[in-house]
Amino acid sequence: MSAVVSNLKSVSEMKGPQGLPIIGNLLQVDIEKFHLQLEQWSNEYGPIYKIKMGPREIVCISDAETINQMLRDRPTTFRRRRSLETIIDEMGFNGVFSSEGDDWKRQRKQVALALNSAHLHQFTPKLLATTETLRKHWLQYAETGESVDLCRDVMRYTVDVTTQLAFGVNVNTLETDGPIIQQQLDKVFPVLARRINAPFPYWRYFRFKRDRELDKALINIRETINGFIADCRQRMADNPEIHAAPTNFLESVIAAQATEDGAEFTNDDIYANVLTLLLAGEDTTANTIAWAAHYLIQYPEYFARARAEVDALIAPEVSPTDYQQLSKLPFIEAFANETMRLKSIAPLNGLETNEAVELLGYWVPANTPVLALTRHPAIDKSNFGEPARFNPERWLKTQSPNQCPHNTQAFLPFGTGPRFCPGRNLALAEIKIVLAMLCRNFDLRLTNPDIKIEEKLSFTMLPKHLDVKFSRRA
Ligand code: HEM
Repeated sequence: MSAVVSNLKSVSEMKGPQGLPIIGNLLQVDIEKFHLQLEQWSNEYGPIYKIKMGPREIVCISDAETINQMLRDRPTTFRRRRSLETIIDEMGFNGVFSSEGDDWKRQRKQVALALNSAHLHQFTPKLLATTETLRKHWLQYAETGESVDLCRDVMRYTVDVTTQLAFGVNVNTLETDGPIIQQQLDKVFPVLARRINAPFPYWRYFRFKRDRELDKALINIRETINGFIADCRQRMADNPEIHAAPTNFLESVIAAQATEDGAEFTNDDIYANVLTLLLAGEDTTANTIAWAAHYLIQYPEYFARARAEVDALIAPEVSPTDYQQLSKLPFIEAFANETMRLKSIAPLNGLETNEAVELLGYWVPANTPVLALTRHPAIDKSNFGEPARFNPERWLKTQSPNQCPHNTQAFLPFGTGPRFCPGRNLALAEIKIVLAMLCRNFDLRLTNPDIKIEEKLSFTMLPKHLDVKFSRRA
């Protein structure tokens, strides 16, 4: 982006929804539907507009090319919101998601290493075993006919997967009432979402019940994770061969600490990133699987097609049996992509300028918050034909050309550029393996078809009221 100031308009000239003095647009925003409101404003005011949340002006961008450019221009021209780093730092876990500059680079290297495809292959047996536990867990629901809050239930699976990946322990949420750590992790995102959107840092002066509960939860989470770290160190001291072939994130970073390359990774970094992985890997994947299940229910013809694909590949098995099989499920992959196009669980990405920059004909000063409306381009007709229609076929290579446009640059569920999601491959493996197992074994219906399934933003975007009933496949 060029640094030419002349002929550019200033942010004060930017259009945007009319607000009230001092508080700006604060009262027009329902935090749970913030993304929907912003998308609607983008339809009214165009690809660049501003809102005012209390004292701060925020520039909102929905243009695919500009968003791609901004995400790629990190960590130089753009960064994540400063307030995110401060808030997470106050909570005591400034890991790879929230840190910036050299701190981020150091942490990104280790986290990306632990999530690379070699480690993912090693991890596959655990992924398959946990999927089998999920199948047995759902069989119980099929027997009893119980109604299930699908988001919360799939979260049990993603918790079990992510804890094994993060520190090698299966906390087995699927077969127990849920370990304490899970109940405590649940307290983090809602408070985080509130604090990020708060017009001023109220929690530094007054703590609501939810803030006090979070304080307690964070103390317990730290104790639990530190316990896992101590156990892991002991295990590696007793079995030094683990250093050469680590099987989870903790082993991988403890092994790296002993080398010149990873010596800068501190003990605080380990804690912060274990917790970051737990948080980044759970709601995101669970909510995406839940949205996909919602579409399976809504489109029986696609459910049947996904089922036929799985049957042809794995029958008489009940779940995929190896990682390679996952690449042989093109329709299920297309189904997952279409789910993420319409129901991206991260429809917004909060950034901030590090330096003054030109954005779509405006001169935006340094330190300006810029919200990238990352889902908007994916549901815009200039990028995808018939954008509101759920049509997995658009992702299959065999699709007819009359469905153009099909601009994959506008499809950003995992972000892009140097900070794109390092858990993408794990997430896609989880999504495909669970959908394959679901289609092969179960029928699914809404508990109450009259209740509208709504989008709710609570740091990630989830389906509200998605209660379902399982039955054995007819
Ligand atoms: C469907 C599931 C998932 C979705 C849609 C998703 C989406 C995202 C998005 C949009 C970002 C921000 C990217 C950017 O700023 O360009 C991100 C970052 C991140 N994700 Fe994911 N994610 C998912 C699953 C996971 C999993 C399973 C893990 C790990 C266990 C993970 C770990 C992370 C981390 C560590 C970051 C921060 C990267 C950085 O700032 O350098 N995510 N994810």
